[in-house]
Amino acid sequence: MSAEILQPDPQGLARAADLLAAGALVAFPTETVYGLGADATDDRAVARIFEAKGRPRFNPLIVHVADLEAARALADLPEAAERLAAAFWPGALTLVVTLKPGAGLSPLVTAGLSTVALRVPDHPVARGLLAAFGGPVAAPSANPSGSVSPTRAAHVIDGLGDRIAAVVDGGPCPVGVESTILGFDHAPVLLRPGGLPTEAIEACLGNPLARRAEAAPVSAPGQLASHYAPGATVIPEAAVPPEGALWLGFGPGCAGAALNLSPTGDLVEAAANLFHALRDLDARAAPGQPIAVAPIPDHGLGRAINDRLRRAAAPRD
Ligand code: TXA
Ligand code: MG
Repeated sequence: MSAEILQPDPQGLARAADLLAAGALVAFPTETVYGLGADATDDRAVARIFEAKGRPRFNPLIVHVADLEAARALADLPEAAERLAAAFWPGALTLVVTLKPGAGLSPLVTAGLSTVALRVPDHPVARGLLAAFGGPVAAPSANPSGSVSPTRAAHVIDGLGDRIAAVVDGGPCPVGVESTILGFDHAPVLLRPGGLPTEAIEACLGNPLARRAEAAPVSAPGQLASHYAPGATVIPEAAVPPEGALWLGFGPGCAGAALNLSPTGDLVEAAANLFHALRDLDARAAPGQPIAVAPIPDHGLGRAINDRLRRAAAPRD
């Protein structure tokens, strides 16, 4: 199956919004690069992003919103973030800010972190799509993991044409490099240089920006051995449940499991369920009771699941 190519007119945007609402993946142009969009509140849709990109890990994704008000509904913006948003949104600036409890985003979007990366894109097609869809859209760059970011619809088709529902063809991206990412650990910190020059940011803040290297180790999930660790001890690769453990199953043949990530052995479903299942079992576990997880095949999204389980099982510090 090949992706639908949609025109950037009201009809095309309405079709794209319908596909997003149905949990499908839709690539769309932003001013930086083409994004691979999914409904940010839908676990399965977000899991499909990782599957389509072949991402070995659940890196957190940027959530695209229509305006500052929509951003405030999802996160608490410190004063410096408010100032930068007022100056540069819509635009090529992503702000990593504290997620509001109950914001409704899939925990896969934030990789279980307490922060969320937010951006209001400045491209008529992206803005039209966000307006038509009416909710937050998670979107990494629309390329297979490890390859160059796409700046034309044809690039998206080359890399992902058989793995996504549609691409809205809005022509070449005007900026062509990804957004600048800032965090707010104490002061604003540059996490990724990008489409908005740091000089413009520093002029707005009236201060030089701290760089990631100068800052204290940032909560970048890929760099931490133990990440998204539930309170209970996690035992991966448990083909049969160790005595006294809560067993998290996968696939058929897990009778006696407290929960099953996917009774049919579907890795997309399992990835979509993973964080919820760990939280659920963590809440159910008696003091000292471990969570044992059935073996997960180490391919496709299974690698991401196993990566996350290894982090959950790693020694805590
Ligand atoms: O221009 C862009 O930013 C494009 C367009 C589509 O908006 N998107 C993009 O997304 O480049 P992606 O997924 O390729 O890069 C997102 C980056 C990753 O390096 C990720 O680690 C970081 O943002 N990130 C996301 N949420 C984060 C968080 N809560 N804390 C730290 N880093 C975060
Ligand atoms: Mg990328």
